[in-house]
Amino acid sequence: MPRGLMQKLYDACKEVFSDAATGVPPSPAGVARVKSVLDEMRPGDVGLSSKVSFFRGTGGLGRPPVTYLHIYESDRFSMGIFCFPPTAVIPLHNHPGMTVFSKLLFGSMHIKSYDWVSDGSYPCVGAPPRMRLAKVHADATLTAPCETSILYPNKGGNIHCFTAVTACAVLDVLGPPYDDIEGRHCTYYASFPFSRFSDGSPGEKGLEWLEETEKPEEFSVVGAKYTGPRMLLR
Ligand SMILES: [Fe+2]
Repeated sequence: MPRGLMQKLYDACKEVFSDAATGVPPSPAGVARVKSVLDEMRPGDVGLSSKVSFFRGTGGLGRPPVTYLHIYESDRFSMGIFCFPPTAVIPLHNHPGMTVFSKLLFGSMHIKSYDWVSDGSYPCVGAPPRMRLAKVHADATLTAPCETSILYPNKGGNIHCFTAVTACAVLDVLGPPYDDIEGRHCTYYASFPFSRFSDGSPGEKGLEWLEETEKPEEFSVVGAKYTGPRMLLR
C-alpha cells in the first residue's frame, strides 16, 4: 500500500510537534500545515472501509463500543482512528494543555464542545466544589467530507463529546498526548444548565456547568489493529 498522505501527515507532525509541551500549541503555520494534510484525507488513505465489523451496531442491545486503531505515539504526539457504530458515544472529556486535530473520515457525527470560563464573573451558587463554568463552543453535526476540527489548550472546544449519527470514523492527532505523569490526565464531565447553580441571573447564552465524574461505566473503547499504510519513522 503506498504511504501517501499518512507519511505526509507523520512528517508534518514530527516537525510541527517537535517542541510540543503542555499548554503550548504549535505555531499558526504549523497548525495550518497539519490541517492541510488532514483536510485531504479520506478513508482509503488510512486503509479503512466502512464495511468492517467495528462499524456495525448492536441491534439496539445497549451502547455499541467504540474501536480505537492505534497508529503511532511518541512523547510529542499521537495518531489514531476512532471507529463508531451508529449511536456510539465518546462521553464529555477534556484535553488538558493539548492541541487536538480531529478529521471526520466518513459518516456523520454530532460534536458538542466547551471551553472553560475562567474570569470569575459568574458566582456559583450552591454548586458542588468540582463544578466549573464552561461556555459552549460547538453544538453541531458534521458530515464528511468536511474540514478538520482543531482544539487548543484554552480555546476551540477543549472539552468535547462525540455522538455517532451514522457509522463514522475520526482520525485524531494529539500533541502532546495524554500523560498522567506530565499532568495530562483525561477527565470526564457531566453537564448541567446554567440556571441550576446560578443566583437567578440568566447569564450569557451558551453557559453550562461541568462537573468532574468518573469514566461512565457504559463507555468502552476496544483496541484493534491498524491495517493502513505504515510510515517510515524518519
Ligand atoms: Fe477527545
